[in-house]
Amino acid sequence: MKPLEGKTAVVTGAARGIGRAICLELAEAGANVAGIDVAMDAMEETAALVRAKGVEFLALEADVSRFEQLKDAVGRVAEQFQSPAAQRADHQHRQRRRHHGQRRAGQLLGQQGGRHRPDQDGRP
Ligand SMILES: NC(=O)c1ccc[n+]([C@@H]2O[C@H](COP(=O)([O-])OP(=O)(O)OC[C@H]3O[C@@H](n4cnc5c(N)ncnc54)[C@H](O)[C@@H]3O)[C@@H](O)[C@H]2O)c1
Repeated sequence: MKPLEGKTAVVTGAARGIGRAICLELAEAGANVAGIDVAMDAMEETAALVRAKGVEFLALEADVSRFEQLKDAVGRVAEQFQSPAAQRADHQHRQRRRHHGQRRAGQLLGQQGGRHRPDQDGRP
């Protein structure tokens, strides 16, 4: 078994140069690779070289200096490569946070209702 088998690596600037070389080293070690770059033409060659090593490659177009673009790209990586167990854990975590948020909002509304009822404290 290769040292990074079953792992996923995210490489920025993956279309050429040092980023491409890093993708190839990681693929050689058995990792699936998600490559992020603004230059999607050059990325095609990275994709072919990485896949030739028998691992998966996901090409993502994003400018890493733009937070929203980077966040979307990382979200795509999670969707594509997360194990079923990690997906379940992530789903449960989000459910718990949503539930907690609803309870907290309910408590805040309850507090407000108590403090600001005009017919009780005489204010208009
Ligand atoms: N090549 C060297 O010998 C060397 C030495 C020291 C430092 N560096 C530095 O390492 C970095 C990479 O070098 P390289 O030779 O591989 O460069 P390169 O230009 O060959 O590759 C950089 C890659 O990053 C991508 N990229 C640039 N800005 C981006 C952005 N905002 N969002 C997403 N992708 C973006 C480019 O499209 C390109 O594919 C550079 O910052 C370089 O200055 C290089």
